[in-house]
Amino acid sequence: MNLYKYVSDSINEKLGFKANLETPKNRDFGDFSTNAAMVSAKTEGKNPRELAAQIAPKLQELDFVENVSIAGPGFINIKIKNDFILQNAVAPKQMIATKPLTIDMDYGAYNVAKSLHIGHLRTSIVGDTFNRITKFLGHKTFSWNHIGDWGKPMGLIIAWIERLHPELPYFQDDFDPKTPVDYEIDEKELNNYYPSASAFAKENSEFQARAQEIKAKFQAGHPGYFALYEKFLAISLRTMNNTVQRLNILPFDYDLGERNAAKYLEPVEQILRAKNMIYESDGAQVINVKRDTDTAPMPPYMWRDSRGADTYDSTDLAAVYCRKQVDNPDRIIYFTDLRQSLHFEQLFRAADMSGIYPYDKFEHIGYGTINGKDGKPFKTRDGNAAGLDDIIDIANEAVKARVAESGKKLDDETIKIIALAAVKFNDLLHDVKSDYIFEPSAITSFEGKTGPYILYTAVRLNSVLKRANGDFSKPHEYALTTEERSLLIEIMDFEKTLLSAYENRATDMIANYAYDLCQLTNNFYHNCPILRDDIPTDIKAGRLYIAKLAFDTLSTAIDLMGLKIPSEM
Ligand code: ARG
Repeated sequence: MNLYKYVSDSINEKLGFKANLETPKNRDFGDFSTNAAMVSAKTEGKNPRELAAQIAPKLQELDFVENVSIAGPGFINIKIKNDFILQNAVAPKQMIATKPLTIDMDYGAYNVAKSLHIGHLRTSIVGDTFNRITKFLGHKTFSWNHIGDWGKPMGLIIAWIERLHPELPYFQDDFDPKTPVDYEIDEKELNNYYPSASAFAKENSEFQARAQEIKAKFQAGHPGYFALYEKFLAISLRTMNNTVQRLNILPFDYDLGERNAAKYLEPVEQILRAKNMIYESDGAQVINVKRDTDTAPMPPYMWRDSRGADTYDSTDLAAVYCRKQVDNPDRIIYFTDLRQSLHFEQLFRAADMSGIYPYDKFEHIGYGTINGKDGKPFKTRDGNAAGLDDIIDIANEAVKARVAESGKKLDDETIKIIALAAVKFNDLLHDVKSDYIFEPSAITSFEGKTGPYILYTAVRLNSVLKRANGDFSKPHEYALTTEERSLLIEIMDFEKTLLSAYENRATDMIANYAYDLCQLTNNFYHNCPILRDDIPTDIKAGRLYIAKLAFDTLSTAIDLMGLKIPSEM
């Protein structure tokens, strides 16, 4: 049961108006409080305490109410009956949405032949958790890994391979795709091609021009470039797949990127032309997305660059068109770096103006940067910008060191699970928009607001349940202790938390909830012994029931964050 909703609905029905219901942090005076009397007193010109005294007895009639008290200038505190809490707390289960939506989510969005950077970490973690929450609430979602596979890097990489191996037949204009070519790309080398080519192009304008020419021909369907591209695409898809597994995120519904979207450029261009939306500017084809009300600069949206090539802008608009055809979503949500905000604002306007997709059904969730202690984007020890794998490796080392120090013996698999939890939980804990400082030793601590603490609590609960080896059925009667009561109320807040996390697009709420739940679980664990010999059977049964509910709730939260519970810690 969603306790808050139940109590709120019942009170509103009883009073015949909508009362504002609060949940005080300190529950000593009540589990809920309302300022209804104070609000009504103002509109009715009455004394708030007198009005509260009239409302209180009505609330006292509700069958779940233990007692009602009046405090301060007219606050009404409501305490819920223990038995009501015991009988109605349940473990979370897949929900049915009252108004189920179909939502396209664009996250991950890795690039072909370019190693994954630190920014890909946040889009993956936040996007995946948001996707899991949305599904849990009963909506239909489609995750799109909008792969970067059509732009400048492709031209540079192909040009680079041409420089290394000019003898390969791929570079001939009459290349026949059926020609067998004895050439394999080394996976490690491939990751270096783009940075090398990009650095070289900066100093060598001839090479730069060649890369641009190749890109344009590639987009126009040059068979040799395409055959080469297919080779490194296969490698990149494998790398992406490894990343998905390493991060324990759900597999994408679509691993289709810019190249796929490019197939829809033609119909989109027809729409744009019919509406006279494309005009020429400095040799490029652009769309004006400015509004009269704009105060900030709003540059035109680049439909085709001055060389006639497709752009990040055009393929993104075509991708919207494609998604509309394929999924017909009620909303499209993008998870990228905050720095892409302008691009998405332009995209949403262009889509809206062309009638392809309405502006107000788009959302861009822009996230901040992962920084080092110096406040600059996190770097590895050798001073290079950290990649996605570096972050996980660093966390792994930190967990290993901690475990060795504590004298624990944990296998490599367990260490990996803990390190990933450290990274992901810490990421989710921060408000998406804000930057945060990545401190490997702090996030891997087994105490405090950390992933390892969350897992540790779950492992401990699990081991109690395993040792008890009993049935965990609900007791008919059981006198709750304060700790048990607080824990059950928190469990009854799960649904409310999830709904707020979804409505506010705030994945930090689920991380904070998990932490609060763990705190209350540990309080319960310390103050209410379960399996000790001197504990009477009926109390043992009651506590086991509560421990099981806590475990089921915590493991659902853990699952929604894409973490795994190790078998020992
Ligand atoms: N591939 C881009 C990057 O790595 C992100 C793409 C985000 N999605 C989109 N539809 N533009 O930065």
